[in-house]
Amino acid sequence: MTSQTQNLTILPPTQETIPSFSRLTRTLLPINYGPKFFEASLQPPSPANAYSLARVANWNDSPNSGDKPQSQVIAGIYGRIQLVTDPEHQKPPECQLYIATLAVLAPWRGKGIAGLLLRSLVRAAVEFVEEARTHAHVHAHDQAQAQAQTDLALGQHDEVDDVWTWGPLTAVCAHVWEVNDGGLGWYCKQGFETGELLKGYYRKLRPDGARLVRRGVVGLLVDGKDDEGVAAELW
Ligand SMILES: CC(C)(COP(=O)(O)OP(=O)(O)OC[C@H]1O[C@@H](n2cnc3c(N)ncnc32)[C@H](O)[C@@H]1OP(=O)(O)O)[C@@H](O)C(=O)NCCC(=O)NCCS
Repeated sequence: MTSQTQNLTILPPTQETIPSFSRLTRTLLPINYGPKFFEASLQPPSPANAYSLARVANWNDSPNSGDKPQSQVIAGIYGRIQLVTDPEHQKPPECQLYIATLAVLAPWRGKGIAGLLLRSLVRAAVEFVEEARTHAHVHAHDQAQAQAQTDLALGQHDEVDDVWTWGPLTAVCAHVWEVNDGGLGWYCKQGFETGELLKGYYRKLRPDGARLVRRGVVGLLVDGKDDEGVAAELW
């Protein structure tokens, strides 16, 4: 989904915007993510790119002039959809969206742009998972029917293999460096809960701890703060 206001556009990254996306993230976060890392998000989520997806916020100074828009990347978010499995099969599988990077250039902070990016990515992830689940369901149904017909023809009654299916996307989470008070404060403001300190999480940072922040998807997208609505209030 695309969110657009007079000056701001939120879009999936492109080959052209990846270098700026990568540069701004590298400048604002202490971990050196290169362009290759972000290029994974140019393709739709799949096992080949570890179910990556991303959004960039482009700022256009003169959106209404007849000139070709001169936009710059001012913020970006990158995440991965993960399957949360329960080894003891006590619960059906669920998915979560793991946010690996989120950064907004300083002059554009405090305007709700990180929130827009978060919701845009969550919405995309929910839509992707729902579609994957629908396909898996149809596939399982077709496979079960084909198997039943084969069994009937052969006079066998073997059990149909379980087809792996996606669970619903229920949560969003991220690791935040233990000394990143701004990042932690922002996630808390967005309704994330802060977990215990994971010492030794970062190999190259000192201090080396991270906190896992996590919140449910319910309420994140349906609190009346639609992307376009929020953006329109801001600009
Ligand atoms: C954290 C960051 C992404 C927030 O971006 P942003 O666009 O300024 O955030 P938003 O404007 O969407 O913030 C929305 C709300 O959170 C609040 N907020 C922002 N930063 C906050 C903080 N550090 N502590 C508490 N609240 C904060 C805003 O005041 C706003 O509240 P309001 O709606 O009541 O006015 C940005 O500061 C940044 O890029 N920091 C450097 C990189 C980083 O730390 N990334 C996160 C960890 S990976």
